[in-house]
Amino acid sequence: SSSGPLTGRHVLVTAGPTYEPLDPVRFIGNRSSGKQGYAIAAAAARLGARVTLVAGPTALPDPKGVATVHVETAREMFDAVDAALPADIAVFAAAVADWRAASVEPEKIKKGEDGPPQLRLVENPDILKTIASRGFGRPPLVIGFAAETGNAVALGSKKLASKGADWIVANDVSPERGIFGGDHNEVHVIRRDGVESWPALSKEDVALRLMRAAAEHVGASHRN
Ligand code: PMT
Repeated sequence: SSSGPLTGRHVLVTAGPTYEPLDPVRFIGNRSSGKQGYAIAAAAARLGARVTLVAGPTALPDPKGVATVHVETAREMFDAVDAALPADIAVFAAAVADWRAASVEPEKIKKGEDGPPQLRLVENPDILKTIASRGFGRPPLVIGFAAETGNAVALGSKKLASKGADWIVANDVSPERGIFGGDHNEVHVIRRDGVESWPALSKEDVALRLMRAAAEHVGASHRN
């Protein structure tokens, strides 16, 4: 591949939903298609990076020139991310399930006379927060996403601090906006020193713009 502003860099990207099983046939999931994260992985490769994409279940083909690791659950995603480090830039675009069932039934849960089953949930590991708060081995540029249905800038700014990310890409995922599963996105890039609101763009263009900004940010410093 030809050289570009990310040549010599390792970029790690998470994408897609996670599926958290309840029993052998049912799971808790969400509406992420993986399109935004896959586009980021492809854009980073196009700019010359070595790219690892850790993807939850999606219907998308693996991006060309990208090492793609397929996972299903949040815990599997965490392990795959950990195994792929170190990275110069880490982008957490996956819609990771915050909770999973406290116990997974080994057989299909039967519809019985006792009424619907009571689900008990436990918290999943927060991949972004864990990696961003590491001292040793923290990627120099950690980019998180924030999927909100309220004020994306206000809520995303809170996540910048609570998750310890360098940048947060906030998007309003209210159903009428068609972001989940759609081909376009309208994002606010939140940094400690201010917010840039980008116009509605294709997910490919959001990805390219984001990876160009990331390349500029990491500049010509040490390469992993
Ligand atoms: O996949 P598409 O259909 O293209 O849609 C794109 C998208 C809407 C999924 C994407 O643009 C997006 O917003 N991704 C983040 C979705 C999300 O779950 O955001 P959140 O606000 O719940 O989480 C905040 C951040 O923490 C995210 O970077 C998330 O990856 C990360 N996280 C969350 C929970 C967890 N257990 N581990 C994490 O790493």
